[in-house]
Amino acid sequence: MSKHSYHHLAHPPKPGAPLIFAFHGTGGDEAQFFSFARRIDPSAGIVAPKGDVDENGAARFFKRKGEGLYDMEDLPKRVGAMAALISAHANDHPTSPIYGFGYSNGANILSSVIMAWPELFDRAGLMHPMIPWAPEPVDGLQGREVFLTAGRNDPICPWSVTERLITWFDAQGAQVETLVHDGGHEIALDEYRAVTEFLKRPA
Ligand code: MLT
Repeated sequence: MSKHSYHHLAHPPKPGAPLIFAFHGTGGDEAQFFSFARRIDPSAGIVAPKGDVDENGAARFFKRKGEGLYDMEDLPKRVGAMAALISAHANDHPTSPIYGFGYSNGANILSSVIMAWPELFDRAGLMHPMIPWAPEPVDGLQGREVFLTAGRNDPICPWSVTERLITWFDAQGAQVETLVHDGGHEIALDEYRAVTEFLKRPA
């Protein structure tokens, strides 16, 4: 895995408590979900990186050529660097379960890291992910907990595309849960609550 140089906010876990990685959406930053993650489980550690791609002033985790048109030369490099950041923090806390959650572009980098390194995360919350390809099968997701959310009328992350990702996680043997609301790309209040409950559930 390559070296990372991410600007990020971090808070250490109490011994054995989860380490939660929080990934913002396009235009967000390391602060977008840091306090939310702190409230999910005050004993948990938090690592909240800021995407190192600047798209006209908006921070992202990988480059794109248009909406849903990802730069597939850039993506694997960013995925490698992010996996290095995650591994470095995870290695510092060997008794902590590793959890992650992300929204939109944050859900997409998290999904992409999981596809390349399925054993990094014990639990992942993916809010409005948009993976515009059919991923290859992987080993190592058996029994890992994945919670996916979507908006039925999301113009950026179409429900049919999220459905394909749900089917993929299911086929890899992950323990999949979902929440679909009738709105668009926004995170609904129920969605925040459901992600909170998912991440604070005892391991
Ligand atoms: C992406 O580019 O990661 C997704 O299409 C969502 C977005 O950030 O607009």
